[in-house]
Amino acid sequence: MDTLVRIALLPGDGVGTEVMAEILPCLDWLESRGHRLEIYHLPFGAEHFLETGETLPEAAFEEIRDGFDAILFGAVGDPRIPDGRHAEEILLRLRQGLELTVNCRPCRPLWPGSRPVIDLEVYRENTEGPYCLQGSTEPDRAVDLAIHTEPAVRRLLQAAFHRAGTRGCSLTLAHKANVLKHGHGLWMRIFEELRAANPGIVARGMHADALLCALVQDPTPFGIIAADNYLGDLISDLCAAFVGGLGVAPSLSWAPHLPYRCSVLAEPVHGSAPDIAGRGQANPVGMFLSTALLCRHLGWESEAAALEGAVSLALAEGARTRDLGGTSSTAAMGAAIRAHLPR
Ligand code: IPM
Ligand code: MN
Repeated sequence: MDTLVRIALLPGDGVGTEVMAEILPCLDWLESRGHRLEIYHLPFGAEHFLETGETLPEAAFEEIRDGFDAILFGAVGDPRIPDGRHAEEILLRLRQGLELTVNCRPCRPLWPGSRPVIDLEVYRENTEGPYCLQGSTEPDRAVDLAIHTEPAVRRLLQAAFHRAGTRGCSLTLAHKANVLKHGHGLWMRIFEELRAANPGIVARGMHADALLCALVQDPTPFGIIAADNYLGDLISDLCAAFVGGLGVAPSLSWAPHLPYRCSVLAEPVHGSAPDIAGRGQANPVGMFLSTALLCRHLGWESEAAALEGAVSLALAEGARTRDLGGTSSTAAMGAAIRAHLPR
């Protein structure tokens, strides 16, 4: 028997709750395969904020940090809270407070025959850059600070080099060091250092603007793309578009230096999608694939592969939500995927 894994579920807002509902039976399935889970549902999100005025209370944050091993996250964002305050205080607080520096967003074709045949992973720094949320709005100017620190940049780049080495693929660093001399200058310095220390890995830096152009022309040569928080956010959405869009894009964030007990968060990339929320139209694939990434991170490779395989089989037999041009509801799509899980 495995050691007990305590997982905090934060469905959040909008379609986050709908896709989370589809993954719940998979947690029972994981238990039926001998993994010991303890699952807690946490209410934080827009609804809870509007009712109580609290986003993520400090005591709850500390309980997650010290009492859980992992977080399964749905999405945050709600038009009733236009400044996105609760999203900052929940999602960004978790990413930053738990020091989840590395955010991996893989992009692979999901069903046979889909093009282009890419196999790339965006390694996004997940806690810094403009997401440090320091700045000011003055009458005639506005400032957003972007802070980059050596430990976080080094952790992200080390993880990216390690992954490129394991996969035997190339590594491309996206940067704008020609303009962002200080911040991206720091990235370049650490990148060059790690490049010298890893002579077996084909690694190069590219200006982010040129990289985006090259990606749109032909994404197939790229293996790992490393980027700061802001560029990584943009690049990962672009890359998701190559394999079916945001509805199918998974992500996993983790703290390689293990500062706290809770060191990993799985989260689909799609966000709360208020335009389709509550209609049963959301695509649960991103949530399934994010859960697969979490399983792999926990060392449960056969369950990770089974979840990914089940998604591919369901898509191969034609199950499609509306974002993929089909008519399946969220629940039907979830059921079609789960039907392919081995007992
Ligand atoms: C993402 C999202 C978030 C981000 C938002 C919701 C703050 O776009 O996870 O990519 O910008 O990081
Ligand atoms: Mn984003």
